[in-house]
Amino acid sequence: MPAPSAPEADADAVVQMQGIVTRFGRQTVHDGLDLTVRRGEILAIAGGSGSGKSVLLREMVGLQQPTAGTVRVFGTDLATLDDASWQALRRRWGVMFQKGGLFSALTVQENVGLPLREQGRLQGRLPDALVDGIAAWKLALTGLPPDVVGKHPDALSGGMLKRAALARALALDPELLILDEPTSGLDPASAAGIGTLIRATQTQFGPTIVLISHDLELLWRVPDRVAVLGEGRVLAIGPMASLADHPHPTVAAYFDDARRHAAPAPSPPAQETAWKTS
Ligand SMILES: Nc1ncnc2c1ncn2[C@@H]1O[C@H](COP(=O)(O)OP(=O)(O)OP(=O)(O)O)[C@@H](O)[C@H]1O
Ligand SMILES: [Mg+2]
Repeated sequence: MPAPSAPEADADAVVQMQGIVTRFGRQTVHDGLDLTVRRGEILAIAGGSGSGKSVLLREMVGLQQPTAGTVRVFGTDLATLDDASWQALRRRWGVMFQKGGLFSALTVQENVGLPLREQGRLQGRLPDALVDGIAAWKLALTGLPPDVVGKHPDALSGGMLKRAALARALALDPELLILDEPTSGLDPASAAGIGTLIRATQTQFGPTIVLISHDLELLWRVPDRVAVLGEGRVLAIGPMASLADHPHPTVAAYFDDARRHAAPAPSPPAQETAWKTS
């Protein structure tokens, strides 16, 4: 049989990026990058600062178009979508951006309710009490105490803000959850708590999760596979343990550091897991 001229869709892939080239002026960020995310896995994207991790996530959810290459999400080529299909597709994923993105003029509960209200505008308005109830439930799932719901984001600690942003990403029960640096800027205990929460979210609700992280403790503990970006492509991909002896010098340098963090992680604080049993 002749080789197909266009890349084939992989039925088991939630995200399939093929031949991605991204250029900003003279700068080439991605240079023929391929990446497949499988259904139900937690895939972490690691790599040096400026290696193009955040841009790749933006391309994954259609906020940015690559210069060349194909991005398929749930089997659909994002470049071929009309408005109606785009609206239908984008409610199947939830995104937490690197810079947080909660609206400071809204309470935490209103922020988490926002995707539900937007969805309501398209599919029939949900009663306010229902939106508030779902938002409060998502916030509780992320381990935030009930008194947080009426506060504004600037009244929250860094760890609480990350949880609230995660609650918003979970608002529409996404099949694909995308998290850009969910633990950056947190103290080790809070970061470990968020890592536990991400793992528990996957176990409990089954979404496919793509996250970017520099947090070596998280990289060892949370994802099923780690993709290391560098030189415009995926230099290595696999379970963290399989990458530790990788021959590529950039990957080796990354994981020399990781090895020093290979000690068993501390047990998460009790409140991190309490909600799982409720
Ligand atoms: N809209 C843009 N216009 C021009 N250059 C951009 C744009 N977005 C990103 N870049 C450049 O692309 C490169 C990759 O950026 P990106 O934000 O993806 O890095 P990153 O791997 O997420 O880094 P970090 O770990 O610091 O978050 C950087 O050099 C950045 O300056
Ligand atoms: Mg980034």
